[in-house]
Amino acid sequence: MTTQLEIFKGALEHRHSHYGLRPEWVAPRQTVEELLGGVLQTVPSAFNSQPVRMVLLTGDAHASHWKLVENALISLMGQEAYEANTAPKIRQAFASGIATVLFFDVPSVTEGLQASFPTYAANFPIWAQQVQGSHQHAVWMGLDMLGFGASLQHYIGMVDADIKALAGVDASWVLTAQMPFGAPVAEVAGKEKLPVSETLIVK
Ligand SMILES: Cc1cc2nc3c(=O)[nH]c(=O)nc-3n(C[C@H](O)[C@H](O)[C@H](O)COP(=O)(O)O)c2cc1C
Repeated sequence: MTTQLEIFKGALEHRHSHYGLRPEWVAPRQTVEELLGGVLQTVPSAFNSQPVRMVLLTGDAHASHWKLVENALISLMGQEAYEANTAPKIRQAFASGIATVLFFDVPSVTEGLQASFPTYAANFPIWAQQVQGSHQHAVWMGLDMLGFGASLQHYIGMVDADIKALAGVDASWVLTAQMPFGAPVAEVAGKEKLPVSETLIVK
């Protein structure tokens, strides 16, 4: 009989970074929306402060987002270097998916906590980042379990204002990551990990 632990570990082991995506909803868009809502409603945050916001970009919005990133990279690197180094990834692994989840931090949440609980003022920005990671992993796991391939990207600090305008979010929010997803082109093998004997101590 498969134990709960085996099911849980199996799910963790199956999630990988997918760099080959096709534009297909392998599960309905509505189900993905439910996944994102479920993650936002359940993942813990410091003092239950909930500083994370997500935007699901689909269709033209998804395409426009990756066009913004592409144009920014071309401006930075030049067309030739872009075509040689980065274009294949942007086109085959990110834009080629069906949608992208944008993750945002709401700084006013952290500022409010710092004002209310000055003793922990230095911790709140750190905890806000940790909460981003918790949400990103949960979404990544959920997308994988629905049959999507996804990866975690950080094309940040180039055209954030344009991305926020496209996403229709408050200019004060901070973009923390992009998660493009779609139908996986291939199975992805697990990467080598440090032995547990080095990373886990039990006393
Ligand atoms: C905090 C964090 C930042 C990452 N940033 C990127 C990134 O910017 N681009 C990218 O392609 N992968 C990024 N990754 C993916 C990791 O490289 C990848 O998860 C790791 O090598 C393990 O491989 P796997 O996802 O296939 O299991 C990031 C992962 C984490 C947790």
